[in-house]
Amino acid sequence: MCGIVGYRGEKQPKDILVEGLKCLEYRGYDSAGIALKENDKLQIIKSVGKILNLEEKINKTKILDSHMGIAHTRWATHGEVNEDNAHPHMVGNTVLVHNGIIENANELRKMLVEEGVVFNSETDTEVACALINKYYDGDAIKAIEKATKEIVGSYAFAIMFTDSDKLYATRKDSPLIIGYGEDKEFFIASDIAAIISYTNRYILLEEGEIVEISDDIKVVKKGKKVKKEVLITDLEADSKDKCGYPHYMLKEIMEEPVVLEKTLKPYIDDIDSLPDLTEYEEVHIVACGSAMYAGMIGKTLLEENSCIRVTCEIASEYRYKKVFYDRKTLVILISQSGETADTIAAMRKAQQYDVDTLAIVNVKTSTIARESDRQIFIEAGPEIAVATTKAYILQVAIMALLSYRVAYSRYETENISNEIKILPRLVKEVLDRRDDFLKIAKEIKDNEHVFFIGRKVDYAISLEGSLKLKEVSYIHSEAYQAGELKHGTISLIDKDLPVFAIITDSDIKDKTLSNLEEVKSRGAKTIVVSNEKIDGYDLEVVVPKLSSYFQPILVVPCLQLIAYEVARLRGCDIDKPKNLAKSVTVE
Ligand code: F6R
Repeated sequence: MCGIVGYRGEKQPKDILVEGLKCLEYRGYDSAGIALKENDKLQIIKSVGKILNLEEKINKTKILDSHMGIAHTRWATHGEVNEDNAHPHMVGNTVLVHNGIIENANELRKMLVEEGVVFNSETDTEVACALINKYYDGDAIKAIEKATKEIVGSYAFAIMFTDSDKLYATRKDSPLIIGYGEDKEFFIASDIAAIISYTNRYILLEEGEIVEISDDIKVVKKGKKVKKEVLITDLEADSKDKCGYPHYMLKEIMEEPVVLEKTLKPYIDDIDSLPDLTEYEEVHIVACGSAMYAGMIGKTLLEENSCIRVTCEIASEYRYKKVFYDRKTLVILISQSGETADTIAAMRKAQQYDVDTLAIVNVKTSTIARESDRQIFIEAGPEIAVATTKAYILQVAIMALLSYRVAYSRYETENISNEIKILPRLVKEVLDRRDDFLKIAKEIKDNEHVFFIGRKVDYAISLEGSLKLKEVSYIHSEAYQAGELKHGTISLIDKDLPVFAIITDSDIKDKTLSNLEEVKSRGAKTIVVSNEKIDGYDLEVVVPKLSSYFQPILVVPCLQLIAYEVARLRGCDIDKPKNLAKSVTVE
């Protein structure tokens, strides 16, 4: 949510900052801005909307001959989307950009107003800026330290002072890294993607650390100098390219076979290298959004195939609810970014109770990857499209393997090692049927509402299919447990309303089909997605039959491509749907 880039070095920062923002645009794109500084001169340029608007504005402006600057792309939290609320903010000598939420912004604002500060925006960021400025008397580190002691909430700040040629940054509960460029050249970024074209060497700023960037770097915490390890990212500079695809979403769906192979390979002959869940009496799977829906598939597999008691919960609920840890419990956190605020909070809650945590995560340097007790990394590579696709598939794949790992050690169970090997090829064959999905997309693109129904694992699949469709195409879509529809919602079924029925679990196939008959008889346009041919409905998608472990991994890509095609036909901004952000780093 929101993105930060900063630069200090020999070059003019303008292009570096703008290009960096473009790489972070998927994290928030309501408005953007840059601040450039040279000697005692400072220039701030802001614009509402996409980075392209900012770039156009910058191109029309006479730019300061500068060697230091900070930039930001915003996903609004405090205050509506307008230029006043866009970052950078400046109060007195202090100019800063901010990711996160200052929870006590109202109290701080009141106090600062009483002291005579005049605010120009509604943001919590300007409050933080004013607070740092209040304490700034030429000693930047002291001012930042004092101000951050009073701030409650999450923040990553990149800060400049009008009378200093140094750049500063600090963070709490919101990620920030410092990149090492060529000689005496340094970057600040909320995500390595923003600076990967310039460097792969970086340090991770830890909670409470303050970095001072001059011709060198100094990191301090509570007044003491901290020695930092320089890390090398394995991210490739060209991994952000669309590789000829019109959208990242399509590129990332098409990458599913490759990333599946990469993620599954280490376990083909060594499934025992995965954590053994048999030592636990209960598993809590906690995540948000699609990651939580991947968890729901995991729950079904762990319960049905491995007889483990599992709850699967939305992290924003779990973090505040009463949780019983009276059995030996493992908390599994699923997160692509590893920075989702609620999932981090859920992890920390479990750790407060000394409960073991296991993270299934993509970004290896993320907070969840670093703070969880154990990690399983999915090898999705960077996922740029806001709507997750390939990372979701890999999350499901890991849950399937974890479940299989228990099942085979406890019971005589089918051997799925051959399936693991052929799965990437089967997914590719499904993805190659784009024309079939386009045909369905054309049938539903003009509808205002769509329903998905399924039971058990097919309900979990329905939830993901429905979320994908609504978030990228803006068609209102709901997923229902097939048996539940007639307890109220069936009143919404009208003639030609599309209803997808997901039917892969043969044990309850007939039950779901009865429910589909109920909507069919009310005129719905019925679309069956199944692993066997089922006649009698308007449209169908049939995928090869697999074991229960991997069946969802053949079905969900079809729903992803249908959602993609519908969004494309409706002319939506597929990679950056409105109001969304890739990584939800605030509550
Ligand atoms: C939907 C989507 C979101 C994320 C959710 C969790 O397409 O991408 O629902 O799945 O915000 O994000 P992570 O996995 O980064 O914790």
